[in-house]
Amino acid sequence: MALSSSMSKVNTIKMTEAQFDQLRDVIYKRAGIHFLDSKKYVLESRLSRRLEELEFEDFSQYIMFLTAGPYQMEEFQEMFNRITINETSFFRNEPQLDYFEQQVLPQLIEARKDTKTLRLWSSASSTGEEAYTMAIQLHRSLGIRAMDWKIEILGTDISEKVLKQAQEGKYPHYSVRSLNEMVLNRYFKQEGSYYHLDENIKSMCRFEKLNLKDRVSAKRFGTFDVIFCRNVLIYFDDDMRKNVISIFHDQLAKDGYLFIGHSESLRSLNVPFEQLPAPQAFVYQKV
Ligand SMILES: C[S@@+](CC[C@H](N)C(=O)[O-])C[C@H]1O[C@@H](n2cnc3c(N)ncnc32)[C@H](O)[C@@H]1O
Repeated sequence: MALSSSMSKVNTIKMTEAQFDQLRDVIYKRAGIHFLDSKKYVLESRLSRRLEELEFEDFSQYIMFLTAGPYQMEEFQEMFNRITINETSFFRNEPQLDYFEQQVLPQLIEARKDTKTLRLWSSASSTGEEAYTMAIQLHRSLGIRAMDWKIEILGTDISEKVLKQAQEGKYPHYSVRSLNEMVLNRYFKQEGSYYHLDENIKSMCRFEKLNLKDRVSAKRFGTFDVIFCRNVLIYFDDDMRKNVISIFHDQLAKDGYLFIGHSESLRSLNVPFEQLPAPQAFVYQKV
């Protein structure tokens, strides 16, 4: 059977070691994402189609195009949409989220009872499941009191593609696979093969583009009571991790909480945060 021309062309443009070194350097400088030697195939396979679309014959032409001047923002955006790993789901790492709901939220609700204001940040939100999970948990914690509180949950990511999906609030079964029937029925409406999130929960969250390398842009979002930064530090090297953690240090309230991913640690970074003695929570406070 003959393959269609688009299928037969996938993955046809090979990347040399030198081109890989150049391209990952460009990516690192712009976004702090560090591609390990073993990840050459990721860039090659994810960008090959893009080169075809632009009618470039090899990666050198693409790199030249990217670096030709300061105004290649659109192509960088297109590239980040394609090369980032956006895996996520609702209630990802439940033991950690149980700690957030059962220990952190009651403590913060008590601490903020006069101002009745809470600001939470999902700093590498991907398609929004993490931010919306926080919203569901906060909604459950406040109950009827929610009406009197000013809640702001911000989701940010470098990829515009995932942010668009987050704003839609509509998810395939894969994203909600670990939810029990009660949560699913309470907060989602199934239409065909998609699960549409409750409008109240949606209205608690907003999504904006942010490159975590960009401290100045991050600053405009102000101070947060809780910051989630899960499963993105693994793509950075120690310098970038330190920079990102120092942004969080600047933008976290004195008694705020920083949650990181279960396979990540701040231990070797020598940053002014201490881990709370809750092994499954991966949660830190400022020292
Ligand atoms: C694996 S997802 C994690 C999603 C969610 N935090 C979770 O744990 O389920 C990693 C996200 O980090 C984003 N990302 C990677 N580099 C970034 C950067 N420099 N600034 C902002 N977001 C970035 C990617 O676009 C991707 O959506």
